Amino acid sequence: MRLGDPPAPQELDPVERVSRDELTALQLERLQRTLAHAYANVPLYRRTFDEAGVHPSDCRSLGDLASFPFTTKEDLRGCYPYGMFAVPRERVMRIHASSGTTGTPTVVGYTKRDIDVWADLVARSIRASGGRPGDIVHVAYGYGLFTGGLGAHYGAERLGCTVVPVSGGMTPRQVRLIADLRPDIVMMTPSYLLALLEEFAAQGLDPRESSPRIGIFGAEPWTEEMRAEIEESFDLHAVDIYGLSEVMGPGVASECVETKDGLHVWEDHFYPETVDPFTGEPADGGELVLTSLTKEAMPVIRYRTRDLTRLLPGTARPAFRRMARVTGRTDDVIILRGVNVFPTQVEELVLRTEGLSPHFQLHLTRPGRLDVMTVRVEARPGFRGDRIAAGEALRRTVKENVGVSVEVEVVDPETLERSVGKLKRVIDKRDN
Ligand code: DLL
Repeated sequence: MRLGDPPAPQELDPVERVSRDELTALQLERLQRTLAHAYANVPLYRRTFDEAGVHPSDCRSLGDLASFPFTTKEDLRGCYPYGMFAVPRERVMRIHASSGTTGTPTVVGYTKRDIDVWADLVARSIRASGGRPGDIVHVAYGYGLFTGGLGAHYGAERLGCTVVPVSGGMTPRQVRLIADLRPDIVMMTPSYLLALLEEFAAQGLDPRESSPRIGIFGAEPWTEEMRAEIEESFDLHAVDIYGLSEVMGPGVASECVETKDGLHVWEDHFYPETVDPFTGEPADGGELVLTSLTKEAMPVIRYRTRDLTRLLPGTARPAFRRMARVTGRTDDVIILRGVNVFPTQVEELVLRTEGLSPHFQLHLTRPGRLDVMTVRVEARPGFRGDRIAAGEALRRTVKENVGVSVEVEVVDPETLERSVGKLKRVIDKRDN
């Protein structure tokens, strides 16, 4: 296979080749079953459906789903720990959970079949990214309650790959293992790959000479500019993978390497909608809402992901709709003097500014009555130009493109904190 070639038809799951009509028929049948299963077995769904005056038997077409109530993160928290399970706890084979740093953790459960479907979908996603049986896959997503590590691991095994389960952290060792074991594929957050990039330089190794030909990146927002940066630095194909623990984990949607034009949602298992985040009304672009179609242990009905995206028609897999790259979460938005700013907008502009590296933080302060955002950004190593001018160029382009005035501080390379997993971009000191 040459890099970026589409898979041969016989390499795909049969369902990846069905027509849109066949897919929607399958979705309807699975949706009806899921609604009945959720209503019969989860008290929360029985209550919210009853309150909304809807019954699973009211769902006669996919469009009827819109009359069913949403499910939110707060609903899941309110059922902590096992209240969302639709099967006896003994049938739950695995538990994952969100970190719970901002409140009660969210617990999710999987039956044996759920784990099986998850492995199939991650395998499908790795294949869509260009991976094939026999490839060596270096997994640097964290293993544990976070779904990234084990999700990637089971999927890579399912595809028939050789898995190196490194997990996150111990960056010098990661680079050593990549140099020695020569993986074909790396899976980690895009921000962690940037940390590895520096470690390659520290060890005197050229990342472009390293073995990986594919990188499968997700778990945090990233931009086209970051894709270009990564592809150029490592000479690999950088492909996006999306998912969330409440709905499954990685592998809900994945980009195809031959088009790299957004993520195909694996619609045989998840039904996507987008709604206006404020009104909840259907909208062309907006908050992604997902309904699981096959989950046994913890079906989710119209789950409000808080992720902002747009649904687009299928390309590389024509029957499956795509979601555009996630620009951010509704709760990531910074409202600066009345203007909405997403960290990804700043990322795009930083990467287009000469002399500035992809390492930056957004510091929010309130020195007087008004909020101030300072972009603290590292100069590129070896940049000999004028740092003040580079900072000024960024300040100007943020004003022109985003419409807000920010302060910019260009700092020395390798002075900002690096991530090992999900990156924390925003440092909010406004309450101090
Ligand atoms: O981050 C699952 C995952 C692991 C996805 C590895 C991809 C790769 P959570 O910790 O529950 O699960 O966080 C889910 O992360 O709602 C998004 O806000 C964000 N996210 C995940 N993938 C992407 C992506 C995992 N490709 C939350 N682009 C989601 C942008 C992403 N944001």
